[in-house]
Amino acid sequence: MKRLTVPAIQRRKVNGKTAEPLVMLTAYTARQAQLLDPHCDILLVGDSLGQVIYGLPSTLGVTLDMMIAHGAAVVRGSYRSVVVVDMPFGTYEASPQAAFIAASRIMAETGAAAVKLEGGQAMAETIAFLSQRGIPVMAHVGLTPQAVNALGGYAARGRSDTEHEKILADGKAVADAGAFAVVIEGVIEPIAVALTHSLGIPTIGIGASAQCDGQVLVTEDMLGMFERVPRFVKRYGDIAGMIGETAAKYAEEVRARSFPGPEQTYQPKS
Ligand code: KIV
Ligand code: NA
Repeated sequence: MKRLTVPAIQRRKVNGKTAEPLVMLTAYTARQAQLLDPHCDILLVGDSLGQVIYGLPSTLGVTLDMMIAHGAAVVRGSYRSVVVVDMPFGTYEASPQAAFIAASRIMAETGAAAVKLEGGQAMAETIAFLSQRGIPVMAHVGLTPQAVNALGGYAARGRSDTEHEKILADGKAVADAGAFAVVIEGVIEPIAVALTHSLGIPTIGIGASAQCDGQVLVTEDMLGMFERVPRFVKRYGDIAGMIGETAAKYAEEVRARSFPGPEQTYQPKS
């Protein structure tokens, strides 16, 4: 099967409309990528892996080496989806040149098709710099978790007029700069709807609107791995419950000495 491409993703939006919404999920490991790949258009190696995999308090402690290791694993585990790797905090904000050096390592060492970075107007020059030099960029506006210290938390954005106008301007700026798609996270719905209607590139919503050109969730949230999830998450499964029940069965059999049984035990040739 041939892998989807960034231009193919962008072309899904025709005359401001996307007939079939883009399906995107996060993936951090090869096996997870294998299982999700048939169902997705885009696999995002999100820096949310900081919290989900490494137990960090935010995404700020995620490093370029972590993103590269997981990005390469997801590329190896997938055949069809476009793989996008998040640029971690501190690797792209200082200058377009710094961003290119970090992004080119991601591209060269993972085989991913694109990078994602957070920020609107302030990142427009960097988005143009990368995309004009062969690195497709997915932008990310609205609630941008790497800015949690400046934003003061993870509450939905855009409730004041100034913030509303700023997020609209951010969306326009990243599209004008050449981003091939934009994630819109944690905003009041009218902002997501307005951006979806006004931008020529696909909008991918998370806590945004069903009218976006696509949707993304953190896979572990969607699978039901966590008891506490943001309001915008829908839990489609109960993987935490399944893991607990399965581990309990194993523990019981080990304690009863009923595992390993004859099928799992080697005997000398008779
Ligand atoms: O890191 C991440 O998982 C993300 C998505 C939630 C958009 O950036
Ligand atoms: Na992210």
